[in-house]
Amino acid sequence: MQVFVTGGTGLIGSAVVAELLGHGHTVLALARSDASALAVERAGAQPLRGGLADLDVVRAGAAQAEGVVHLAFSNDFSSADAVARAVAEETAAVTVLGESLVGTDRPLVTVSGTPWVLGSVSTEADPLPTGGPVGGRSRTVVAILGLSSQGVRSVAVRMPRTVHNEGRGGFAGLLTDIARRSGVSGYPGDGAQRWPAVHALDAAVLFRLALEQAPAGTSWHAVADEGDAVRDIASVIGRRLGLPVESLPEENFGPLGSIFAMDQPSSSAHTREALGWEPTHPSLLDDLENIRP
Ligand SMILES: NC(=O)c1ccc[n+]([C@@H]2O[C@H](COP(=O)([O-])OP(=O)(O)OC[C@H]3O[C@@H](n4cnc5c(N)ncnc54)[C@H](OP(=O)(O)O)[C@@H]3O)[C@@H](O)[C@H]2O)c1
Repeated sequence: MQVFVTGGTGLIGSAVVAELLGHGHTVLALARSDASALAVERAGAQPLRGGLADLDVVRAGAAQAEGVVHLAFSNDFSSADAVARAVAEETAAVTVLGESLVGTDRPLVTVSGTPWVLGSVSTEADPLPTGGPVGGRSRTVVAILGLSSQGVRSVAVRMPRTVHNEGRGGFAGLLTDIARRSGVSGYPGDGAQRWPAVHALDAAVLFRLALEQAPAGTSWHAVADEGDAVRDIASVIGRRLGLPVESLPEENFGPLGSIFAMDQPSSSAHTREALGWEPTHPSLLDDLENIRP
């Protein structure tokens, strides 16, 4: 299949591109800089120069493809305004991707997040929370899944809080960045709240399976670790960086502080059974041992 990929140079996207190429697909990847275009070429894919805001380029990429995987997001969580800008940019681009595929029955696999359900482990059947700082992303995913009634094989692959590789990535990566800056490996609350996680190489396999086989309008969980206590995550980070490990007020964690404080374990039992997905790479706590001071 000729697949158009956005975000193909990122932590998850580079693994997805390699996974697709390794299974006989060809990849056209959106590349917003010379460096990204070079990385795409080196990976064995074809770059399409442009960014998410270049809607004509995004439309042209989808038009040339037999399937689309969307992963690009600015991941700028420095302020509430930055998050809102990133969400608006992504929404416009994903809307164009969806419109381009109406009536084609082609797959559009979009990244999403595992939901949180108070007092229980979330499953693929739970709805996405559409409030909070990144609620707009969920509303976009819901709209894209709705295109399943208009001839788009739209599918959501929901990511846990940390998608990691070589000790980097996701919420645990943000905790590491904050620890490096502040000199304290902090966590909000008592740290007993749990975050799910997956290795990027395992997540990449699920993106491929979803692209190849998932029915229209379905959602899947790329969860390997159901929930690691945040205090345990901060403890490994603190030990690797030689920093004290302490509870800190939610405000220390920026616009995502309220989400950092929540218990949000998640299951992938249905995904494993229905798509035959089985994660094989290191757990988050093992992978964090790769952090270097
Ligand atoms: N890692 C996680 O733990 C995690 C967890 C939940 C959800 N997710 C979601 O999964 C997706 C990928 O995450 P990631 O960790 O792989 O992110 P990442 O490493 O930061 O990569 C982001 C990718 O998006 C591209 N990109 C960003 N802004 C763009 C723009 N305006 N136009 C075109 N391309 C743009 C980047 O291109 P350049 O290479 O040119 O910068 C890069 O390829 C994101 O939607 C993220 O929110 C990730």
